[in-house]
Amino acid sequence: KTPRFLVTREIPEPGPSILEDAGDVEIRDGMSADELREAVTGGEYDVVVSQVSDRFDSELLSKARIRGIANYAVGYNNIDVAAAAEHGIAVGNTPDVLNDATANTAMLLLLGAARRAHEAAKCLRDGKFTGIGPKLLVGQDVTGATLGIAGMGRIGKAVARRALGFDMTVIFTQRPPEDRAVSDDELDDLAGRVRQVPWDELVETSDYLSLHVPLTEDTTHLVDADVLRRMKSTAVLVNTARGPVVDENALVSALRDGEIFAAGLDVFENEPELADGLADLPNAFLLPHVGSAEVGSRAGMARKAAENAVAMARGEKPPYEVTP
Ligand code: GLV
Ligand code: GLV
Repeated sequence: KTPRFLVTREIPEPGPSILEDAGDVEIRDGMSADELREAVTGGEYDVVVSQVSDRFDSELLSKARIRGIANYAVGYNNIDVAAAAEHGIAVGNTPDVLNDATANTAMLLLLGAARRAHEAAKCLRDGKFTGIGPKLLVGQDVTGATLGIAGMGRIGKAVARRALGFDMTVIFTQRPPEDRAVSDDELDDLAGRVRQVPWDELVETSDYLSLHVPLTEDTTHLVDADVLRRMKSTAVLVNTARGPVVDENALVSALRDGEIFAAGLDVFENEPELADGLADLPNAFLLPHVGSAEVGSRAGMARKAAENAVAMARGEKPPYEVTP
């Protein structure tokens, strides 16, 4: 029987071509939870190519009549992977192809927040630029500053390499709040150029704190009011990981009260909603979850998601499989 693929939101080439070569493809323009439920439980599709905004909880998965979920993302916190496994549903993601793009976004946020890019651009467009000034929009030093990386995985390492290029000092914690010793082998080219520290030290000594952990129970609200209080008052928080890793209401208070200098955020706790007051803060530099939004990166994600989907439809192990 010809496999049937459901793509919940249009993905770039070569995704659609790869799927069309292997079976019938239906591409939707985003799906509500009800529409997703109907499609997934209806028995009409073999594999769903999903977005991080599509939630597959254990209840839905227990009724699902599909063989696999090919998530168009590296993160898969939108899927209960254990429940999927229990019901024989394969799950795949799109690792590596977005490491550089996401690390570029982290640097964009770091620099933008440090150098007050949002305020500066607004000043100009509001017609308030009256000429170069010694005290106009002065931000934080970057060169020589210490970057703390929470989570030295594929993306964390790509950020570390960039920061070293800016002559920053790089420290990291592997799996905050707990730490796991990382060997020089695992650090490959970064061995001897970055230093592992306990989470408390990362929080208290970093001039920039950049988050690169997956969202799990352990990392939910990893950065809470207490952590924000312990950070330097000149510090900048950068989040390209997942919104719920930060207590967004606590962050709004911290930014408002000057507990930290600024934040650069690409992800939010309740996307697409923002916490009350966040968008009004001049020291919040905000992007709409575009971490991987480079042409090449997105094409790579489309290829990996489609290759996963085709393998799942054939009952084969997907090349980029996620297991509990
Ligand atoms: C995007 O957020 C991803 O996980 O790829
Ligand atoms: C600034 O424009 C400078 O020349 O220092």
